[in-house]
Amino acid sequence: MSQQKKAILTIEGREPIELPIYAGTLGPDVVDVSSLTAKGLFTYDPGFMSTAATKSDITFIDGDNGVLLHRGYAIADLAEKSDYLEVCYLLLNGELPNAEQKEKFVNMVRRHTMVHEQLQFFYRGFRRDAHPMAIMCGVVGALSAFYHDSTDINDPHSREVSAFRLIAKMPTIAAMSYKYSVGQPFQYPDNTLGYSENFLKMMFGTPCEPYVVNPVLAKAMDRIFILHADHEQNASTSTVRLAGSTGANPFACIASGIAALWGPSHGGANEAVLKMLDEIGDVKNLDAFVKRVKDKNDSTKLMGFGHRVYKNFDPRAKVMKQTCHEVLNTLGIHDPQLELAMALEEIALKDEYFVARKLYPNVDFYSGIILKAIGIPTSMFTVIFALSRTVGWIAHWNEMIGSPYKIGRPRQLYTGATERNYVAMSERK
Ligand code: CMC
Repeated sequence: MSQQKKAILTIEGREPIELPIYAGTLGPDVVDVSSLTAKGLFTYDPGFMSTAATKSDITFIDGDNGVLLHRGYAIADLAEKSDYLEVCYLLLNGELPNAEQKEKFVNMVRRHTMVHEQLQFFYRGFRRDAHPMAIMCGVVGALSAFYHDSTDINDPHSREVSAFRLIAKMPTIAAMSYKYSVGQPFQYPDNTLGYSENFLKMMFGTPCEPYVVNPVLAKAMDRIFILHADHEQNASTSTVRLAGSTGANPFACIASGIAALWGPSHGGANEAVLKMLDEIGDVKNLDAFVKRVKDKNDSTKLMGFGHRVYKNFDPRAKVMKQTCHEVLNTLGIHDPQLELAMALEEIALKDEYFVARKLYPNVDFYSGIILKAIGIPTSMFTVIFALSRTVGWIAHWNEMIGSPYKIGRPRQLYTGATERNYVAMSERK
């Protein structure tokens, strides 16, 4: 971060205020407004449309040009040439690992895949029909009760152990949420398998017969994990940072991220896309659906379209679409929902409403169709997103805790009542 220029803020009746401007390595310059509070002023930016809440070395997005870089590497390259655990290493450590570092990292993850045996009783307190995301919020939050020995946030070793525990246990916890909902026995992790293979085995294996992981599905799963691994200062990551800024333990912080991710405007959109395609049902209903989306008096949205930052193709969506075709072709699956999605995309990309608002498919538009082909039920889609994003949340949390930081405490433009006298009950209307 270098200071090259300064801005002068001129307000009627006040001395001009000088504000430093910093340049990052990529992206827009930022005006440092942190001195304004001492001058009795706040900035006003609902939804953080123009606010850089932090500086970060991890991920860069150029939304106008559809660019997404993790530690400088393009997402398409990582999706094609890397694997999820390598991307985890990259996000956490800043560099791609050499062979020895990779092996050590993978072994560390392997050593932590099992969860405390007592944790299964925690699951049994939930209703069988509970949404798996509700279970995830509860169980991940509860991890600090099971792994209290790694909650000292000021100790780098303790932070590292928590990171490994979270990355390694998340597939186990996610698969247990699914098994609980279908009434099947929990499956222990199999540490002879890779990260994605192990997850699929815990999801779909049973004690009754051997489960052989289909390598095509494992590859697709791994790619989905990579494409969701991190995404800069999005709502859930900012939530994790905000929770972390209070000194809360990492398990509590990640649980707060999972809760924020669940919303349909964020990670919950992948589930919403398939529900939307189900509701549309047939290509002949597309025009009527698009009409509803464009109607100001109707709250229907085209789920899987639009993004706060991307005003061009989401680069993750491009890879996702290609992966979707590859997976379905290799498995010989003909999915009418894919045809429906493609027809919907075609209509939207030509329609003036979407063109004018720069609304393009985002990562969630095609991911659900791949997940469905893998056999993952719709209610687990956002869980998969949470599992994949855990490493991004940890990388950002670690970046913050590892350098000087302040508690996150936004201010407000107060528009409520001014001070008034208390009204006794007998005098209230
Ligand atoms: N369908 C219909 N209209 C839309 C959509 C959509 N999906 N997205 C935005 N718009 C319209 C919106 O109504 C507004 O129109 P107008 O200017 O006439 O009022 C305009 O486009 C600008 O939208 P906005 O809501 O101000 O944009 P935002 O940056 O605040 O919201 C968003 C971004 C992702 C919440 C929104 O595009 C959306 O709700 N999309 C659908 C949900 C979705 O797919 N979310 C997943 C995001 S990618 C995964 C992740 O990172 O979480």
